[in-house]
Amino acid sequence: MNKSQNPTHNVLLGVTGGIAAYKSPEIIRRLQELGITVRVVMTESAEKFIGEVTLQAISGHPVYKDIFSSDDRVMEHIDLARWADKILIAPCSADFIAKLTHGFADNLLSTLCLAAECPIFLAPAMNQAMWHNLATQDNVEKLKSRGVEFLGPAAGNQACGEVGYGRLLEINQLLDEFCNTEKLLSGKKVLITAGPTQEALDPVRYITNHSSGKMGYALAQQAQRAGAEVTLVSGPVHLPTPNQVNIVNVISAKQMYDAVMENAEQADIFIAAAAVADYSPVDIAEQKIKKSQSELNLELKKNPDILSEVSSMDNRPFCIGFAAETENLETNAKEKLTRKKLEMIIANRVGQNESGEYKGFNSDQNKVHIFTPMGSHELPEMKKSILAKQLVELIALTYEKAYEKKHTT
Ligand code: PMT
Repeated sequence: MNKSQNPTHNVLLGVTGGIAAYKSPEIIRRLQELGITVRVVMTESAEKFIGEVTLQAISGHPVYKDIFSSDDRVMEHIDLARWADKILIAPCSADFIAKLTHGFADNLLSTLCLAAECPIFLAPAMNQAMWHNLATQDNVEKLKSRGVEFLGPAAGNQACGEVGYGRLLEINQLLDEFCNTEKLLSGKKVLITAGPTQEALDPVRYITNHSSGKMGYALAQQAQRAGAEVTLVSGPVHLPTPNQVNIVNVISAKQMYDAVMENAEQADIFIAAAAVADYSPVDIAEQKIKKSQSELNLELKKNPDILSEVSSMDNRPFCIGFAAETENLETNAKEKLTRKKLEMIIANRVGQNESGEYKGFNSDQNKVHIFTPMGSHELPEMKKSILAKQLVELIALTYEKAYEKKHTT
């Protein structure tokens, strides 16, 4: 990233309360190196973690804190909101995310965010349980749907001693994403399968499963947002096509196989999120099957395993599978990881609980356990859209590492 690539001139940096506030001076310095003018607004709780004088000295401008300042700049929040080309709030606390979601205007930073017409970027930093709390996740979802951009958080060790998602992004990645010069999957082609397949028995009946396509569609949207050119091979679902994603609609496992094989060689990454029917009828009756017999035996044949076929190709993409399990999740997922020769498998429990609610399949939430040949990582239950973003980031980073290794050995 260099100055000439960067069209942003004025950045308003909001600093909220959190231990990661100590990184704010470095963020200011790095933005200034790109030729950007930075003005800082800090909240009252941010002052507990970083001094006003430090931020003033590094930014070279007064630090703004009060809605009604003592001098003549009474319309400060409007002035600042109009001055900024972009607002970056880093670190952004759970409390500030909640304020923004509900339109609070109880401090200078929340007030000017309400008045702002420029893009707003939030770089969350908080305890992992606070990040995963459904209240926070609901707020994040709402803000995203209003166009607020989230940078991170990253996973790793936390100041409180816990491990998980909630760390401020590394400054390099934060600034790359903020300045939009390089996205995680820029220039990459990602092929994704989603939804169920339908295997016809006769002209009106078929065998299928409860997949809604939500997981695969969310992954397609997030991969596209991460800069990838995405092709989504979708079984029959009732979902809108994600923005700027190439869609190939199919019905049967055989059609899904053909569509995937046509696109697999060009793909850098293949994510198999579809619930492909393992078997299909040997014969499809030409006419509607009559209910004349008291018993009816269906003869089924095995469908091609699309994921295994792709991972066996000479010029294969980086292959990620899902494992849908009702029992022995870890053992079965690891067995599939090895047997299907995958770089990663994302295991989820599926089925219905005692109250009849779906797990994994046909639900807005999911809880996954990720296995790679190197180890495993568990994520708590969360909305599929948010999970998809975290999975895409993980896949991109794992891909990058594997690619670097391939080219240094
Ligand atoms: O669509 P949703 O309602 O959002 O639900 C999401 C989901 C539960 C369907 C998804 O998260 C999921 O688990 N997808 C994989 C379902 C599945 O078929 O799992 P499996 O364990 O039977 O298959 C293992 C892997 O092989 C999967 O990546 C599957 O896509 C792939 N496969 C399986 C059979 C086959 N013939 N071809 C394949 O490519």
